[in-house]
Formats: sequence, C-alpha cells, structure tokens
Amino acid sequence: MHDAVWLNARIATLAGATFRDGALAVAGGRISWVGERCDWKESARTEHDARGAWILPAFVDCHTHLVYAGNRAHEFELRLKGASYEDIARAGGGILSTVRATREASEDALAAAAQRRLQRWIAEGATVVEVKSGYGLDRDTELKMLRAARRLTGVTVKTTFLGAHTLPEEYKGRADAYIDFVCDEVLPAAADEKLVDAVDVFCERIAFSRAQTARVFDCAQRLGLPVKLHADQLSDLGGAALAARHHALSADHLEYSSEQGVEALARSGSAAVLLPGAFYFLRETRLPPIAALRRNHVPMALATDHNPGSSPLSSPLLAMNMACTLFHLTPEEALAGFTVNAARALGMQATHGTLEVGKAADFALWEIDSPAELAYAIGAAPCVRRERAT
Ligand code: NIG
Ligand code: FE
Repeated sequence: MHDAVWLNARIATLAGATFRDGALAVAGGRISWVGERCDWKESARTEHDARGAWILPAFVDCHTHLVYAGNRAHEFELRLKGASYEDIARAGGGILSTVRATREASEDALAAAAQRRLQRWIAEGATVVEVKSGYGLDRDTELKMLRAARRLTGVTVKTTFLGAHTLPEEYKGRADAYIDFVCDEVLPAAADEKLVDAVDVFCERIAFSRAQTARVFDCAQRLGLPVKLHADQLSDLGGAALAARHHALSADHLEYSSEQGVEALARSGSAAVLLPGAFYFLRETRLPPIAALRRNHVPMALATDHNPGSSPLSSPLLAMNMACTLFHLTPEEALAGFTVNAARALGMQATHGTLEVGKAADFALWEIDSPAELAYAIGAAPCVRRERAT
C-alpha cells in the first residue's frame, strides 16, 4: 500500500522517461512508483488529481550566498555610473562591505532575513538550497552564518564553508597568514560543530591564488569534506583544472575557463555550475565555454548565485530564462541544470534530482503545456504545488 498517488499528470522523470498520462506514487517519503497510469494497478491511501499538471523533480539551487546582512544597492548605482565590480572590491567595498554588515548582525537576524528570502525559492518549487558562508571571514561570524543557514526551514539546506571568500581588512597584505587561520582554526571549528557539507574558495585575482586554494582544499580533504570552487569568473587562473585535480563536486562560474580546464572537469566527473545571474548583473561579455562543456559531456548545473553584490537574483525560473537567452542553453538543459545536474553538483544524485523509485519524494506540479515554458516565461508563477519529503 502506497501513501499517496498522483493521477492525471504529465511526468518528466529527468531520468529519460516522459509519461503523457502518468501516475506517481510515494511511500515513506520516497517515490514508490512512477509510470503510465494504465500500468498503475496498485492502491494508495490518498489519491490526488493533478488536473493535467506537469510533475517534475523539485528544484535544487546548488550555489547561493543566501545568508548575509544589508544590501549593495549603492554599489549598483556606482557600477551604473561606470565603476567595475573589481574597482569597488579593491576600494574596500564589494564583499567586504557585506562582511561589515554581517559581522554586526545577530544570528537571529541573519536567519530571519534568509528565511524571508527563501520564500521565493519555495514558491518556485525548490526543495534543496545550498548556502555558503563567506561574509564573516572571522571565526565567530563564519560559524554564526553557518548556524543561521542550518536553522532555515521549508527546504533541505546544504551548507558550504567559504571562509576563503576574500581577504579581510585585518589581514591586509598577509593572505597566506589568513589561509593559515582558515585552515588551522575556522574550518576545523566549523567542521567540529558539524556545520559543513562542503568547502568552497573564491580563486581569483581579487581573492585567492591557486596555491592558496589548494591549501584550503588539502585541509578540507583531511577533514573528509568535499570541495567546490568559484573558478575562472573574471579571469583564467586555471581554476577548473585545479578543481578537477581535487575531485571537486563542482566548479562554478567558468566564464574564462579554457578547453583544457573543461577536459579536466570531464575526467574528474565534476559538475560545471553556470551562474547567468552574475553574468547578467555584472554585464559580463565573456561566455562560459558551453560548446566545450557539451562536447565533453560535463554535467551542466545552473544556480541563482543569490548574493547582495554580483547576483541579487531570487528566482530559479529567471535563472533558467537567462541561461537560455544569455548562455544559449536549451530549455531542456536549463531544466536539467536545476534538477538532475544540480543534485550532482551537491553530491546528492543518489537521492534527488530525478523522479525514480527510491529517491526522495521531492517534486513540483506546474501548470504549463510543456516543460520548455519554464525557461520561456519571464516573471510567471506556474508552480501550483510543491511536495517535499521530510
Ligand atoms: O559568486 N564570486 C564571489 N562571490 C560571489 C559574489 C559575492 C559578493 O559580491 O558579495 C559570486 O559572484
Ligand atoms: Fe557565488
């Protein structure tokens, strides 16, 4: 006996099957049956009529900076007058201005603000959201951010430690000493409190070098934690290849990645996470190497990269539209980017991202005629229901 069955649904499993008149059953928080309705001969305690809606795997947003205080509308104004993101960062603004606000905020205030933002993801059918630290850059604030992230409700939260996001003012000119501090004190303390699912670094001219990134990764690996990387966003520092060498779950951004970087990702099995929100908001022009990613069969995930500086974007659906219009993804690739490939970018492919028997009963019902509509519409609200295994 199944707990519930959804009938009169169109279903795309994202694992290769589409059912035009489908049925999907759940039991004990997992998918227990999926197929054509005419083959459904079992019974369930509750029967739901999907009224012809499409049932798709729930969205997974695999890259966000959802926990922070304040906003950077003023920097947006400066950029509209001609300042660049890098100019603002070098002048002590950028990430550091959010660090100042976040250090001052209480854990309660951070959690409440993030919970409010999260309603948009829930309304768009997301059940898993990754949240990074990285606006503390000191021990207490990094831990405070991760604790705030772990308090969020309504979605499954995956926390990523991003202590090496940028150099804090108190370590100016002493980047290696800051990396020592991250590796010796902050990351071990966060891991000790079981606040870390993965470790990320911003490898960039305005952040950390390849050698510094590798030191953080070695430390993560000693603690048994998987790694991810903000790689090649503003320049080609060989970030993709570095991520691949450390068997990263994902390498993210990748606008400046080379063909060799992409080939390395293919060999390591890392996912590529594309972030069109930051590309759009910073008015970047250099496109990520989509053709090479396709040619090398690197799984392409998509994410909002929600953050106050480079991507104040709170809509997975809009990120899908941007990925198609700006990066030339197909609507089908965009959907895979927020489901099956996003789960992979978080190491959750065994439980999330597709509608297969045994996986979590996380799915959304959409009032649309075809899945391509999700990436096509701008500002629509087609999600009529979201189910999440708890
Ligand atoms: O993913 N690239 C580094 N981190 C963020 C930006 C953070 C910020 O500007 O506050 C990003 O784009
Ligand atoms: Fe980011």
